[in-house]
Amino acid sequence: MITEINRIVVIGSGTMGSGIALVFAQAKIDVVLVDVEQKYLDEGIERIKKFLNRSVEKEKITLQESNEIIKRVILSTNLEEAIKDVQLVIEAIIENEGAKKELFKELDSFCSDEVIFASNTSALSISNLADVTKRPSKFLGMHFFNPPQLMKLVEIIKGEKTSESVVENIVALCTRIGKIAVPSNEAPGFIVNRLLWPFLNEAYKLFENGVSDKEFIDTAIKLGLNHPMGPFELSDYIGLDVLLDIGKYLEEQLGVSYKPAKILSKLVNEGKLGKKTKEGFYIYDK
Ligand SMILES: NC(=O)c1ccc[n+]([C@@H]2O[C@H](COP(=O)([O-])OP(=O)(O)OC[C@H]3O[C@@H](n4cnc5c(N)ncnc54)[C@H](O)[C@@H]3O)[C@@H](O)[C@H]2O)c1
Repeated sequence: MITEINRIVVIGSGTMGSGIALVFAQAKIDVVLVDVEQKYLDEGIERIKKFLNRSVEKEKITLQESNEIIKRVILSTNLEEAIKDVQLVIEAIIENEGAKKELFKELDSFCSDEVIFASNTSALSISNLADVTKRPSKFLGMHFFNPPQLMKLVEIIKGEKTSESVVENIVALCTRIGKIAVPSNEAPGFIVNRLLWPFLNEAYKLFENGVSDKEFIDTAIKLGLNHPMGPFELSDYIGLDVLLDIGKYLEEQLGVSYKPAKILSKLVNEGKLGKKTKEGFYIYDK
């Protein structure tokens, strides 16, 4: 069964949600972007506009195209209103299992049975999230990468009960929006974060133990492994709070060797979350 997807809702208007909404609007699919307060929606749409303005300046798109894309993003703080006539819900709220479960339970109570639910979780169990709904066969992970409008990959995570036709449907949708979908069975951290977390966490420990400075470690990784960003630059870009949540979850699921380095918890406790708060491992002036 292939569902024609022409209107979706993205819940959470932060770093990821606003970028995901942009990706769909660029692909001419109407999006309702939802958050708990108008100020978060305003920040989200500002990020979208900033990206589109730069694209116009670089002559990648015209001003008219930019305006049309913006028009396709509807902002809402009313979840029940927002889900009317949508075929797909993508959740991109904070990486907290309790908050996500509460949201999906609520959504399930007023969404029609055909609507597909997707979570952009970085590491949490899709089956556990799906279990709070009455539609586990129509529930899957759709894991975009930061920034969604530039990163090609979407990991498609199959929960224990996700139906193959729903996976096929979403893989086809990813192709339609210009992404490459990589399906994966469920495992803590899926593919990319399962491999990324130990790498980043070891970099934090090298720094913490005085083996080398963070700048040198970043340079070594960029030149030695041909990575576009070093581990500290990448961490600030992703968000240290997001990474700490991933690390704690992987430790809980896979054991103590995944335990987050102390420096990461310290920075998060100090509110230094990376680029989004203008300070993380590095300081940013814009
Ligand atoms: N940051 C990354 O690089 C990255 C990459 C891939 C996946 N993810 C995942 O995407 C999700 C979102 O991450 P982010 O970095 O965009 O977080 P963020 O903190 O930037 O944004 C989260 C947004 O969700 C909103 N929110 C919280 N509870 C809500 C609710 N009940 N209803 C509606 N809105 C709510 C918040 O107000 C905030 O605007 C997380 O699950 C994260 O693990 C993050």
